[in-house]
Amino acid sequence: MAQLRSAISVPGRSGIVADLEDALQDYFGVRHAVAVSSGTAQPRRHVTHLWGRPVAMLVIKGIAKTHNLLLLEDGSHAHGASHGGKKVGTFGMAGAFSLNSPNPLSGGEGGFVLTDDDETYDQLLMFGHYNKRARSEIPAEHRLGKYAVTGSGLKLRIHPLAAAIAHDQLGRLDGYLVGRAEIARYLTEEFARIPGLEVIPMPEGVVPSWYGLTLTYRPQELGGLSVERFHQALVAEGAVEFDRPGSTCPLSQLPLYQSPAILFPGRPHAHRRYRAGDFPVAEHTHAHTIKLPVWHREQDRPPAEQYIRAAIKVSDHHKELL
Ligand SMILES: Cc1ncc(COP(=O)(O)O)c(C=O)c1O
Repeated sequence: MAQLRSAISVPGRSGIVADLEDALQDYFGVRHAVAVSSGTAQPRRHVTHLWGRPVAMLVIKGIAKTHNLLLLEDGSHAHGASHGGKKVGTFGMAGAFSLNSPNPLSGGEGGFVLTDDDETYDQLLMFGHYNKRARSEIPAEHRLGKYAVTGSGLKLRIHPLAAAIAHDQLGRLDGYLVGRAEIARYLTEEFARIPGLEVIPMPEGVVPSWYGLTLTYRPQELGGLSVERFHQALVAEGAVEFDRPGSTCPLSQLPLYQSPAILFPGRPHAHRRYRAGDFPVAEHTHAHTIKLPVWHREQDRPPAEQYIRAAIKVSDHHKELL
């Protein structure tokens, strides 16, 4: 309500947008945070910390260094997750985050980019914050200064009410993460005992945000029962939040990458074709993953217990489902 009375449009780095960016800079320990209108508004190719589980960043950093690649992270599922004490989104040249719900930190809609690199910061302002903000922050004599009025032609500002919600939520984020870790610990201990399900181990030093808990389905432990049948039975038991990843499939399976020519006419990569079987490990992982959201409140424990009971029942009765 205070935000509604003060401003519902914030064109420069001031008010609630500056408050949110300052708070994000403090929380992540970076020099720059730029709030934007959504996660989709940010860079397109990343290392995504899927389901809030940090990617093996030291390995990825090594690959990027060897091949002289720019490392950009997508931490949209993983606000507050860390690897070796360092928060995800701070390993590469820049880290992009969504503030969409139900991500660990949300403003309803919105996003932000983190960077320690001043040049990248200026480019970000040019990319999505033309005119007032770009003009006030990029000196006229800077090589980008003359573009400040138009930038690249895009305006990707966060809505101030979304910034106000995200700013409030940021103060609660670590508490939410502690609650999620507690429920995730209970769930993983219980799932580890259930034939047909395998818990993915968490390496030393990796602290996930538990956006989702992913399990590997092992049909060989249940007489070859298909993952489709196993999942349907869980849902039939009322455990409706058990889910199989859909859009989060290997990128090679998406029409955008299989036949992009219609969307990007004239682009060289538009003729690239991927086929089923090109990435067997990723495809197998995708086909055998079952996931659950992780909740953070003490009162979320009874539903978690019900979900465990459903999984035990389906596993115990697998012969009847074959
Ligand atoms: C990993 C990841 N990155 C980026 C996005 C896009 O974010 P937004 O929905 O804020 O545009 C999403 C979707 O929520 C996502 O799951």
